[in-house]
Amino acid sequence: MVISGKELSAELKARMAAQVATFPKRYGRVPHLVVILVGEDPASQSYVKGKAKACEVVGIRNTTLLRPASITQEELLGMIDQLNRDEGVDGILVQLPLPEHIDENRIIAAIAREKDVDGFHPLNVAALWMKQPCTVACTPLGIIRMLDKAGVEIAGKRAVVIGRSQIVGLPTAKLLLDRNATVTICHSKTSNLAEITRQADILVVAIGRPRFVTEDMVSPGAVVIDVGVNRDPDTGKLCGDVDFEAIAPKAAVITPVPGGVGPMTITCLMENTISCFIARMTR
Ligand code: GUN
Repeated sequence: MVISGKELSAELKARMAAQVATFPKRYGRVPHLVVILVGEDPASQSYVKGKAKACEVVGIRNTTLLRPASITQEELLGMIDQLNRDEGVDGILVQLPLPEHIDENRIIAAIAREKDVDGFHPLNVAALWMKQPCTVACTPLGIIRMLDKAGVEIAGKRAVVIGRSQIVGLPTAKLLLDRNATVTICHSKTSNLAEITRQADILVVAIGRPRFVTEDMVSPGAVVIDVGVNRDPDTGKLCGDVDFEAIAPKAAVITPVPGGVGPMTITCLMENTISCFIARMTR
């Protein structure tokens, strides 16, 4: 079975649109998401466009602020400070990566925790690891939504996560652990990787290398979630971290690239924006 993140996203966005349509009457306005894009990285530009499009579909107000790569850290911190104080702003997202001269952790920590729709703020990260209410990062949340949609049982299963990034690998491992999976985190330095991945009932791959996971690394009947967004070195087309063609026939469930995890990340951003809005409106 191929889980279409695109279809699930459309379904979830339709549901959110109906919910947002009730907000003007109930709260006097709709949620407002501000996205800051620094520089002209084409991948970042494309992600930011996708976010604006999703806002339009769901009925969330979106402001995208474009700034040159030459912006100083102080200027960026000043913008964030102003948005933090703005009662009419519910979510603030600074598209990553930022130019070298800007300290990403400083920027992330400067965003008001209650407006941190990315779930990257240290207080949200800490709350996740302490099993406290928090905003969960969009990609990990999207992965869990896809597993649930496919009816995948997580409790008691062996989950292997390849990749240990702060924004995908680590929070995904924690969410799987919280659902009672037995979780192993692997990475670029792991020895005998294939031996470990072959034991996975659920394999999440977020390593950022085109077709890194080959057929011999996956057991028949496994659930394979591909977080990769790469350019195929031969064709230049978008491809995942998993050799989809070779693995799809033996996997019980697999996500495609494009049209898998990617759309779900954006959809979960909409969900987080709505949650931040409601929390602010009802506090
Ligand atoms: N760059 C790549 N993924 C993300 C994301 O989820 N959020 C932000 N802010 N930047 C990113």
